[in-house]
Amino acid sequence: MTTAPIAAGGPRTVSSETVSSDAVLRPHAEVTFADELAALAACDDRPRPERWRLSPWAVATYLLGGTLSDGAVITPKYVGPRRIVEVAVTTLATDRALLLLGVPGTAKTWLSEHLAAAVSGDSTLLVQGTAGTPEEAIRYGWDYARLLSRGPSREALVASPVMRAMAGGATARVEELTRIPADVQDTLITILSEKTLPIPELGEEVQAVRGFNLIATANDRDRGVNELSSALRRRFNTVVLPLPATAEAEVDIVTRRVEQIGASLRLPAAADGVAEIRRVVTVFRELRDGITEDGRTKVKSPSGTLSTAEAISVVTGGLALAAHFGDGVLRPGDVAAGILGAVVRDPASDRVVWQEYLETVVRERDGWKDFYRACREAGV
Ligand SMILES: Nc1ncnc2c1ncn2[C@@H]1O[C@H](COP(=O)(O)OP(=O)(O)OP(=O)(O)O)[C@@H](O)[C@H]1O
Ligand SMILES: [Mg+2]
Repeated sequence: MTTAPIAAGGPRTVSSETVSSDAVLRPHAEVTFADELAALAACDDRPRPERWRLSPWAVATYLLGGTLSDGAVITPKYVGPRRIVEVAVTTLATDRALLLLGVPGTAKTWLSEHLAAAVSGDSTLLVQGTAGTPEEAIRYGWDYARLLSRGPSREALVASPVMRAMAGGATARVEELTRIPADVQDTLITILSEKTLPIPELGEEVQAVRGFNLIATANDRDRGVNELSSALRRRFNTVVLPLPATAEAEVDIVTRRVEQIGASLRLPAAADGVAEIRRVVTVFRELRDGITEDGRTKVKSPSGTLSTAEAISVVTGGLALAAHFGDGVLRPGDVAAGILGAVVRDPASDRVVWQEYLETVVRERDGWKDFYRACREAGV
């Protein structure tokens, strides 16, 4: 029986032969930030764990941003406590896997993609966890045509992203780990503790090569998070991602991301949207925290999460409106409908919460008259 090696890399991009990477709607992090990664690699003289593209210090700099000794500027990808990033990066250099935990929209997926891009130069070795994720998605499957014509062999085996990461000493990613049924999750125990993936049909195994590790994300609002078995949980170092600590930090995150998304969607640049961005962030934070910024007025919180990610969507949608139907400047009327859509998830109870906030807080606030009017017009 011949033993074909397990292909180590991520999926081949079918479109790359015919479509220029510039036309791709959302290139992978390692493509979008290829220049920054190359600049970091060029001036990175610190020790690198085996098969890492960069040292842990350079990976942290890629994520948090900074200026290199040769003057190259690295943009921040993650805005948050430095220690969190340092713990996440160093975990990947140990024998424990990394579990990013947090409420929706706290950049778990975003951080996981950028970590994989910086450490392994490949963020595509990804398993998307759902209630229907089968064991094959984590272990391996079979190409049935080959299986029938040639019998069980390495050629007939379809390696999962996790298996390919093991064979290539790269970073594998599992999204929404706690949505995966418990027995399928437990497939990871052998992989993470023994660092091997047995293939009983062939009497073989794939042993993880140095450099292999795994990043999982889980949403702690999802039912089922507690169902992560303790045996599996022990294989992970858990890092909890917080909501942005201050309004300034959140405005900074939203501004940066909206700029990037706007550029990739080819939206005309907004002349000056920061006042409106600040307003969206203020509304979201006050409703989320249940109290106004000045700490004086209690407000009720709606049922939705009102995450930073949703603030980013509201502003991006507003920019598109301003660009196509307005004068290109982000105005209250461009974000009002988006805010309403994000806040009012439950048509009955959330509408009451929003009305009350609008009348008691927004209406009374200095300089918010135009915003109040726009929100009223948006269909309360
Ligand atoms: N602290 C932060 N730094 C940088 N970007 C952030 C931060 N918080 C949120 N974002 C942005 O929010 C968006 C959504 O993040 P992401 O999808 O990774 O959230 P998530 O935690 O995976 O949410 P979910 O639980 O819904 O899957 C991304 O565009 C990301 O850039
Ligand atoms: Mg996510």
